[in-house]
Amino acid sequence: MQTVNVETNPQYDVLIQKGILKDCGRYIAKVHDVCTAVVITDSCVDPLYGETVINSLVESGFTTLKYVLPNGERSKNLSCYGEILSFMAENRVTRSDLVVALGGGVIGDMAGFAAATYQRGISMVQLPTTLLAQVDSSVGGKTAVDLPQGKNLVGAFWQPELVLCDTECIATLPEKVKADGMAEAIKYGMIADESMLDLLCNNELSDVIDEVVARCITIKAKFVVNDEYDNGLRQMLNFGHTAGHAIERDSNFSITHGYAVAMGMAIMTRSAVKNGLTLQETYDRLEAALLKHGLPTKCDAAAETLAKEASGDKKRRGDSITVVLPKKVGTCVLKKVAVNELVNIFGEGM
Ligand SMILES: NC(=O)c1ccc[n+]([C@@H]2O[C@H](COP(=O)([O-])OP(=O)(O)OC[C@H]3O[C@@H](n4cnc5c(N)ncnc54)[C@H](O)[C@@H]3O)[C@@H](O)[C@H]2O)c1
Ligand SMILES: [Zn+2]
Repeated sequence: MQTVNVETNPQYDVLIQKGILKDCGRYIAKVHDVCTAVVITDSCVDPLYGETVINSLVESGFTTLKYVLPNGERSKNLSCYGEILSFMAENRVTRSDLVVALGGGVIGDMAGFAAATYQRGISMVQLPTTLLAQVDSSVGGKTAVDLPQGKNLVGAFWQPELVLCDTECIATLPEKVKADGMAEAIKYGMIADESMLDLLCNNELSDVIDEVVARCITIKAKFVVNDEYDNGLRQMLNFGHTAGHAIERDSNFSITHGYAVAMGMAIMTRSAVKNGLTLQETYDRLEAALLKHGLPTKCDAAAETLAKEASGDKKRRGDSITVVLPKKVGTCVLKKVAVNELVNIFGEGM
């Protein structure tokens, strides 16, 4: 088993092991007194892993409740969030009980936000089942739901008590969903871990998955601990995301997050090469990793369109926005630029 400790306040562990869901009750009982555990999951994950999780919780003495949402981003809204809260209230869930998020990033974000706000906050454990949730969204404490006006516009910072990554779950993921998570793993390689790209390019994912998840989480934890509320260095995690979010929005979300981030990383790296900030080799290695995992490097949208979309980005501060540019594989820099410069930066990378 691989363990990563996340030293936020309060601190928590991420345990990574194939098949760990079968034993989740035992691990959860070590960090939380036996109580009512509210398992929140989705219609796709429930038939695959719901029973395993409930059985393990019951074996360890927990009383269980289960709430199943329709799968996908369409559920990440205020109405489903309200339904989760009502379900907990109807079942007299108390402040000493526990939310267990079983699923991908959508479930993690929504169950996390429900836990953060129900009775002003109750404990939560994350059982991430997608690659994206394991390498990224289950750690860091960001929880949210979408509004019709935009993604993740309502939320809270709320840290889990424990995260259990069962890397066997990756085997049942559709290829496109797996690729979405892979884009984030490649991002961690680009910002902080040069050898990750080789690990991802030279091996079958199933052979190195535990190590990949552990390394991604270690990097994320380091940035999060130094900047829990996302005002400084944590912005490094945003590599490829300013352009990526613009691509997602411009496509009306028909292009998924990981694919858009892959294009965004490629755009920013080509732009950095053109400006002499990094060598062509940096781009070549990024491109090889993206292509190997079926991810795109080019996008159809115009630089002007993307710059316009990005000017509405949540990360904008006044007239400026911080972009992340690669210096070499494993090292990126933050650069504060005027919003009206974005069109040139993107344009040079198209
Ligand atoms: N909180 C954060 O820091 C953070 C970071 C990145 C992304 N996010 C959020 O995460 C969400 C995207 O997460 P996601 O890509 O995991 O999406 P998701 O939760 O919608 O999962 C993708 C699909 O895979 C299915 N699925 C999940 N696990 C499976 C498994 N093991 N086998 C088969 N199918 C499975 C789901 O039912 C869903 O249909 C977005 O809403 C995004 O905003 C949050
Ligand atoms: Zn992302």
